[in-house]
Amino acid sequence: MQIIGSHRIYLKSIDSTNTFAQKLLSKNNPNEGTVISAGYQTSGKGQGSNKWQSEADKNILLSFILYPKFLKASKQFYLSIFVANAIVNWLDKIIPEQPVRIKWPNDIYVGHQKLGGILIQNTLKADGIEHAVIGIGLNVLQQEFGELSNAVSLSMLTPLDQTLAKLTDDLILQLDHYYRMLSDGNFAWQKSAFEQRMLYKGEKALVSTSEGKIDGTVLGIAEDGKIIMNVNGVVRKLAH
Ligand code: BTN
Repeated sequence: MQIIGSHRIYLKSIDSTNTFAQKLLSKNNPNEGTVISAGYQTSGKGQGSNKWQSEADKNILLSFILYPKFLKASKQFYLSIFVANAIVNWLDKIIPEQPVRIKWPNDIYVGHQKLGGILIQNTLKADGIEHAVIGIGLNVLQQEFGELSNAVSLSMLTPLDQTLAKLTDDLILQLDHYYRMLSDGNFAWQKSAFEQRMLYKGEKALVSTSEGKIDGTVLGIAEDGKIIMNVNGVVRKLAH
């Protein structure tokens, strides 16, 4: 039975689909898997204090609500993992020849350019997750990104013969598939799939962490979402 996408809300314009989802959660009990998508956001949120700006009706802007009772708070990074894996799988079908990568912790890259990002807001209760709002922004049709010279969209990489609506529907099916696999307990497989597609895996790189930019070889991720790196011969786990 489909969970993610079982209920859908489309908004032509909204402040932020994540904020809208949080408001739904504060009012009633929205169904698990409710997807809120928008044509335009007046106040889109990125990681940290960043903004997420997107031209109207060009890109995928969506959030969905989960109640992942099977997941301990200490394992909340598995939400980032399954979402990134689902997006990578979706992209592999659209741009099979291109190097789709996950830039730890929450960015989707093609080569060294950013195609999208994930913003997860969890509300924790005791050692569990009461609810999660998962926001995804993916550049699809936009051609110009102003000063964001590192940004790229799907239509800049390949001729697209599918509509934005169809691409969004396919993405939601992938998200649902990966979420149900995770809830069935395939944690190790998902973590390893994420690690295999990490940008700089096995390579030396300068990685932004809570301790600043760290120079080392990227080895993988820990279950708590920290990145594992070999820094001058010492294996370290570093938070974002
Ligand atoms: C990032 O890379 O900084 C994360 C970007 C997440 C953007 C999406 S767009 C839909 C959802 N609503 C928001 O306000 N943000 C997320």
